[in-house]
Amino acid sequence: MSKQIGILTSGGDTPGLNAAIRAIGKASIRKYGVNIIGFLDGFRGLMENRSIPLGSKALSGILTQGGTILGTSREKPYKMRVGSKIKNMTDAIVENYHRNHLDCLVCMGGGGTQKNAYHLVRHGLNVITLPKTIDNDVGMTDLTFGFDTALGIAVGAIDRLHSTAHSHHRIIVVEIMGHRAGWLALGAGVSGGADVILIPEIPYDINIVAESILERSRQGKSFSIVAVAEGAITLEGDQKIQNIKKQLEEVTKKKEKAQIKNELRALDKKYTGNTIFLAQQLEEITRLESKVTILGHLQRGGSPSAADRILATRLGTACAKYMNEEKYGNMVAVKGDKTNLVPLENVVGKLKLIPMNHPWLISAREVGTCLGD
Ligand code: F6P
Repeated sequence: MSKQIGILTSGGDTPGLNAAIRAIGKASIRKYGVNIIGFLDGFRGLMENRSIPLGSKALSGILTQGGTILGTSREKPYKMRVGSKIKNMTDAIVENYHRNHLDCLVCMGGGGTQKNAYHLVRHGLNVITLPKTIDNDVGMTDLTFGFDTALGIAVGAIDRLHSTAHSHHRIIVVEIMGHRAGWLALGAGVSGGADVILIPEIPYDINIVAESILERSRQGKSFSIVAVAEGAITLEGDQKIQNIKKQLEEVTKKKEKAQIKNELRALDKKYTGNTIFLAQQLEEITRLESKVTILGHLQRGGSPSAADRILATRLGTACAKYMNEEKYGNMVAVKGDKTNLVPLENVVGKLKLIPMNHPWLISAREVGTCLGD
């Protein structure tokens, strides 16, 4: 009897998801004679048993399409809204997995999805994951698909902002996605020639940023581009968050922990994503007009780049092979020009931040880019 495989896409959509669905599907059908179905809207579709067949017709013509033909959601199997309540729906998911006679479930997503997939592995399901997110912050893989496309969009935006900033002698602060990791802001900032790059990994001092802009003015450069990750944080904010994190490590009681976690969330909200305030402060200190552009979801939209199509196709076809070999419980990771398998337990909780000795950071400093420190 042919094997039966389920696919779902979860978390924020990413260019390249359809290319990966197509690659898994085509390789599995052509090489291994497998039947494929796709669950709609992430783990919610699996919980509600909503699926579509992914035969060769459904897999045609989707390589270049952005988004995901399956739809997505940020639902967690163990914390799902059902009516007015939040419930653990793991049992329903396990039941639907068996009801569909699945041999394996493929979950494509970022860090949260890897965690949810591992949760299902611990409940006895055969799962394989692919790493996708425009943030490029999934641990244990060199790359995630979606990043290259988003990077191209962000660089294109910085290029366009340059000419208008130059003409009006302004500061333009451009907010780039990346709440925990600054890969997109750093990559776009370096390749777009931003004068200041602010990333979550390097808490910034507003006076240092302002001084670097004033120094440009003194050199006769009347405009500046500031590329800021949505998760960039001031030194002061970071200090407060670190203190609370220490407190969290020290308490043992569940109630106290929950309280501190709430405080942490509130501080995170308060001190990150303050791009408009940042621009206002720069205007006040430098007396130069400052404007803000928030790229937002533009960065996730549209057709995948050639590099993402290739990466998603490589990962998808490797996934089909690993499923045939029954290598369940793993993420298909990128290692140089190869793919390898990383056990999901080693992926969970491993956020990939920019290391302080990363070549992109070193080069940015060497060309005189201000990093706010
Ligand atoms: O998927 C990653 C990401 O695009 C982050 O860069 C961003 O912080 C977040 O998703 C936005 O999420 P949503 O689309 O749910 O608003």
